[in-house]
Amino acid sequence: MKMVTAVLFSFAALISTALSQTTTVVVDASNLRLKINKNLYGQFSEHLGNCIYGGIWVGEQSTIPNTNGIRNDVVEALKRIKVPVLRWPGGCFADEYHWKDGIGPREKRPTMINTNWGGVTEDNSFGTHEFLDLCSQIGCEPYFSGNVGSGTVQELSQWVEYVNSDNVSPMTTLRKQNGHEKSWGVKYWGIGNESWGCGGNMRPEFCADQTRRYGTYMRDYGHNRLFKIACGASSGDYQWTETMMKNALGFMSGLSLHHYAFQNGRTAADFDESGWFSMMKNTLLIEEFITKHSAIMDIYDPNKKVAMMVDEWGTWYKVEPGTNPGFLFQQNTMRDAITAACNLNIFNNHCDRVRMANIAQMVNVLQAMILTKDDKMLLTPTYHVFDLFKVHQNALWVKTSFQSPEYTYQNEKLPAINCSASIDGTGKLHISLCNIDPKSSQKITCELKKYSPRGVTGQILTANAMNAYNSFDKPAEVVPQKFSDYTFSKNGLSVSLPPMSVVVLELDGSVELPSPLELKNPMPGITCMYFEGIWKNLPGFNGLTPVRTETMGQIAIPEKNSSENFAACYVGYIKIPADGSYTFYVNSDDGADIVIDDNVVVDNDGQHAPVELSGTEVLKTGYHKIKVGFFQAGGGKVLDVALEGPGLPKQIIPKGMLFHE
Ligand code: AHR
Repeated sequence: MKMVTAVLFSFAALISTALSQTTTVVVDASNLRLKINKNLYGQFSEHLGNCIYGGIWVGEQSTIPNTNGIRNDVVEALKRIKVPVLRWPGGCFADEYHWKDGIGPREKRPTMINTNWGGVTEDNSFGTHEFLDLCSQIGCEPYFSGNVGSGTVQELSQWVEYVNSDNVSPMTTLRKQNGHEKSWGVKYWGIGNESWGCGGNMRPEFCADQTRRYGTYMRDYGHNRLFKIACGASSGDYQWTETMMKNALGFMSGLSLHHYAFQNGRTAADFDESGWFSMMKNTLLIEEFITKHSAIMDIYDPNKKVAMMVDEWGTWYKVEPGTNPGFLFQQNTMRDAITAACNLNIFNNHCDRVRMANIAQMVNVLQAMILTKDDKMLLTPTYHVFDLFKVHQNALWVKTSFQSPEYTYQNEKLPAINCSASIDGTGKLHISLCNIDPKSSQKITCELKKYSPRGVTGQILTANAMNAYNSFDKPAEVVPQKFSDYTFSKNGLSVSLPPMSVVVLELDGSVELPSPLELKNPMPGITCMYFEGIWKNLPGFNGLTPVRTETMGQIAIPEKNSSENFAACYVGYIKIPADGSYTFYVNSDDGADIVIDDNVVVDNDGQHAPVELSGTEVLKTGYHKIKVGFFQAGGGKVLDVALEGPGLPKQIIPKGMLFHE
């Protein structure tokens, strides 16, 4: 009898341990407003080692299959992961790069010494035209990093003009002579790189002033509005962010942040669990950096107009034996795949402020997607993480909350699980789960809120060893596999995550949306109330008496206005043609906001020059309340309210969609 009781007790203990090890992840689709900017999946390519030369550029005469000198195999692989944006030409190299050396007939281009990276001779055969051709072959947006450290204001200003202007000018004539008639219209421009270090060893006050000065002469041409990226901090340098925000806020659309997870002294595949743990710890620190830098940015920019751009991140080890130490060539193991997944989950979960990230670097340098050796190419475990995570690009962020179990090594602890989720334009819910623990598996139950699933599929990236990697001899050691270790029913989804694994689940289903309004007598047009007064921010319109009330076909500044100091409030209904996710845009000078069904979807408040902000709302077919507020406080006045949705390209909200009762 005693024996039976003991057995029962230990059995019960086992069950309770197993139960207590299950983590419940609440996946809540009830508040779908934030978009995961596709640019979080951006890349970085520098004139460093074999990133550009050999990895991307082989020249038209090469026996390696190429298009205009650019490797076809590399481009095809990058297209598969949908690279959205590519930063170039550095890095440290950018602040020594003189763009005019990289245009015109290649045989006439001057050479230079690449003093930052190996002291090799740079022949400038890959320059502005070649880079823009690469971007067009990949199908991504270019991001130029301008030379502030050793260049001049005129040089950077002329680069913008060369690339973006269609006027008649010496720069555009030069571009045309070099074979490109039309401007490219490049949007993303960096004002220096790591100005606190290789980009000029500046103090933040000086860098802020340089940002103001260089930024002034980087002009908009035609309809293209430059997105200027000021040089931000390294890791936890909060004073840098504070000073830049305080002194150069009006001169930037984005502020960068760099964070590398270093492990000095050992090569990428040479580690034990202590090396695994320390790289996880260094990687996860980025969450604290993003949170604290964001908090500082919030003080100066509460509406989050300025984006945080993590335009360099990744792992950094001792170079592979026999390679040039200045070339930063490293292998890429399962450990790197896990760190990539951690970073991407963190970026997704901070998509309110983080709107671009560029892993360092795309080919043959640091945490690369691709390694090449002559005509051979391999895809690294990190590449496969980008491939699995591409489903989050431009999808609507879904909040996940859970208490992570701990991964313990010796006497230190880290959260074992991280995850993020999003819903794409077709209504599919993607959940990316990462278990950083190399020894223990994790049981997870996903509790879905406001989402009705119909079915689930999954993919997993894992390996038998922490330091498994893909080599030119064995290129498929670490590749994604179909994942089936889950149970799924109408009531829930339970998953078993193996040690050191990345799992991306795809749920087919639909968001449970609130019902639209039933209107008795909808009439075309929206009600506009016009007010006069002096405001520095949007007035709370309730309680104010309008000077005039009229019905307008579309939302626009009332033709009759006092020109200087007035406000308008537009109220009515918008008729949504089909269930789906709708992005609302307001470009205004001065402040404006958009409220749909009592939720503030876009907040573009404050006294400012024309700035466009957007927000997204998932809506059911039918009528929904819409309210737009606007105020004008001297100077220019602009109000454009647009939307984009399923089957609707971005457009000013058309007449037929607005109603009143
Ligand atoms: O990515 C390698 C180097 O790291 C970049 O050139 C520089 O910006 C950073 O320090």
